[in-house]
Amino acid sequence: MQVTTHADVQEILLDADTIARRVKELGQEITRDYAGRELFLVGVLKGAVFFIADLMRELDLSCEVDFMAISSYGSSTDSSGVVRILKDLNETIEGRDVLVIEDIIDSGLTLSYLLRTLRARQPLSLEVCALLTKPARRKIDIDCRYVGFEIPADFVIGYGLDFGQRYRNLPFVGVLREDLAAAAI
Ligand code: IMP
Ligand code: MG
Repeated sequence: MQVTTHADVQEILLDADTIARRVKELGQEITRDYAGRELFLVGVLKGAVFFIADLMRELDLSCEVDFMAISSYGSSTDSSGVVRILKDLNETIEGRDVLVIEDIIDSGLTLSYLLRTLRARQPLSLEVCALLTKPARRKIDIDCRYVGFEIPADFVIGYGLDFGQRYRNLPFVGVLREDLAAAAI
């Protein structure tokens, strides 16, 4: 039986079918845009794991995948933009068509740092595909070529997204109960 809700979720924003349909569309769009090219996907651990696994299977392209892990200092619901690389890429990206796969862009601080670091390695192209974005929370402008869904400013969990490292396995994206989010700040 498919898990469709959880006691710590206040509201379901995107159910599993809605996510799957949009991931398929994104896959088709990326396939068209990169036709005839070799794509290098960079997944940002851990939140983007589910998204990248599903998205890759919708790509009718020759592609490679690698992962980075970064930690962003801050509270459990707000990042500070001070970022540390915990795991770097195994491969070089110089001269490659790189697509960074992110779970969510909130303030944009984490991704902005990551893009600066990757750009310095001189890829042929560098674009971003984020499953979710919260435009109302943005502190820094990010050029994101592919966006799954624009969502409100609430803290969300599921489909890879965590709160205190939990809830990543929920197959949907839902808003974390306000009392739980408030208790963490
Ligand atoms: P930013 O630096 O504020 O854009 O934060 C980006 C990172 O914070 C994301 O990659 C997530 O790991 C995490 N994050 C931001 N908003 C949420 C949320 O609503 N739920 C879970 N994680 C989030
Ligand atoms: Mg996180």
